[in-house]
Amino acid sequence: MAAVLSSPIESQVAVSATKLLINGQWVNSQSGKTFATINPSTGKEICQVSEADAADVDIAVKAARAAFDKGPWRKTSGSERGRLLNKLADLIEKNADELARLESLDNGKPFLVAKAADLPLTIACYRYYAGWADKLQGKTIPVNGDYFCYTRHEPIGVVGQIIPWNFPLLMQAWKLAPALATGNTVVMKPAEQTPLTALRVGELILEAGFPAGVVNLLPGYGPTAGGAISKHMDVDKVAFTGSTEVGHLIMEAAAKSNLKRVTLELGGKSPNIVFADANLDEAIEGAHFALFFNQGQCCCAGSRLFVEEKAYDEFVEKSVARAAKRTVGNPFDPATEQGPQVDKDQFDKVMGYIQSGQSQGAKLVHGGGRVGDEGYFIQPTVFADVKDNMKIAEEEIFGPVMSIIKFKDIDEVIERANRTIYGLAAAVWTRDISKAHAIANNVRAGTVWVNCYDVFDSAAPFGGFKQSGIGRELGEYGLQQYSEVKTVTVKL
Ligand code: NAI
Ligand code: MG
Repeated sequence: MAAVLSSPIESQVAVSATKLLINGQWVNSQSGKTFATINPSTGKEICQVSEADAADVDIAVKAARAAFDKGPWRKTSGSERGRLLNKLADLIEKNADELARLESLDNGKPFLVAKAADLPLTIACYRYYAGWADKLQGKTIPVNGDYFCYTRHEPIGVVGQIIPWNFPLLMQAWKLAPALATGNTVVMKPAEQTPLTALRVGELILEAGFPAGVVNLLPGYGPTAGGAISKHMDVDKVAFTGSTEVGHLIMEAAAKSNLKRVTLELGGKSPNIVFADANLDEAIEGAHFALFFNQGQCCCAGSRLFVEEKAYDEFVEKSVARAAKRTVGNPFDPATEQGPQVDKDQFDKVMGYIQSGQSQGAKLVHGGGRVGDEGYFIQPTVFADVKDNMKIAEEEIFGPVMSIIKFKDIDEVIERANRTIYGLAAAVWTRDISKAHAIANNVRAGTVWVNCYDVFDSAAPFGGFKQSGIGRELGEYGLQQYSEVKTVTVKL
């Protein structure tokens, strides 16, 4: 693992939006408070951002309610909503370089990865849902008697959206695009670690011409601003992505307030299953990507890597060699594959898991330490001989720590793969089509990849079984989570 520092890309980027976006205006928070957003490569402050709390959420919800009930949004046609979403996509594309720079600065992900993955996926998501906006239609239903019965798919109303820091622009798109395509208004809280790109997109939302109050952006902390959204009596739905722990709190707040609709996209401990008959080199590269992509900060990371006994030793040896080649360093260096973890909390959490792996008897075969003495960089780390009941095999680490686990046969691996509270994703590597389908059918997870990993498309639904979540995002299924079905019956 080399810390490459040659010819960094210019990391300078001007920060233009640092306030709350409420009712089409950039405003200070009611309290006047601000908080620092940190550059995880250095641990130093980038700038101060206005800090929303309950009072600001209240004002934003009123604005979103007015825009929904009385404002132009309710009467805006689907084709016009689609036109606005397409315009936003075009503006994001036009400013892709700046947005990728800002994302890299605030989150720590390599600039070239942000440019090649986060930005295109974000733009595609807005365009995909722009295409749906004028195709949302109900059914005519043949009922008994002399009646005409039909359904309408109506927006839910004011939607609260709470997003995480691992893919700030993309998670904003996954939430905003279907909500706006279906005609809802939004009060969104970006993650406190990474508010900057969400706010820059706020400027582009205004430039695109969305009416005031349709999108409100309130950076702030979870228990305060996030809590105020999830328990608000006039928020009709809350959509959340983040930890399973907070997912429980969101549901509880919804239950104790107004039974707002809840969709959750939570944690995972996804089994990535490699059979000995697989193309091993592809599986090794795929498993490396599945775990280390985005500094290991993926809800669907392939963090339980099950390898068939016959191929185990070779697989471990080659995975270590691949991890050893992974370049860690300045996210603006074109040669960097891995930047820092997002903040000190995440850094400490990951280092704690590395400690626990060692003390519980897993074999540390690569890495395990920090890189450099500033920022939150961690060595690509590989554990072999990991047992199912070790903490590193049970809990979400959310960092660059690979756990390689041995298995003997297919029935056993299915049983062990399912022995978890999570069910977000899974993958299988094999040349045997029967084994591939057996895994696809029997592993309880919202997504199964066969001989690939982390293949995302706006059209393909994503979400979790069990405690990995409720509901699906993306695709046609994603629209249902932002609509109410109304049945209209007319006497003829
Ligand atoms: P988190 O779940 O606390 O934060 C995610 C979002 O929820 C942020 O916007 C945060 O401000 C907000 N939030 C926090 N507490 C809240 C509350 N009581 N009410 C309403 N909103 C609240 O996750 P955190 O602390 O950033 O990371 C902890 C762990 O969660 C990570 O190590 C990882 O295991 C997991 N995680 C999973 C993600 C995913 O994509 N599913 C994304 C981020 C974290
Ligand atoms: Mg938290």
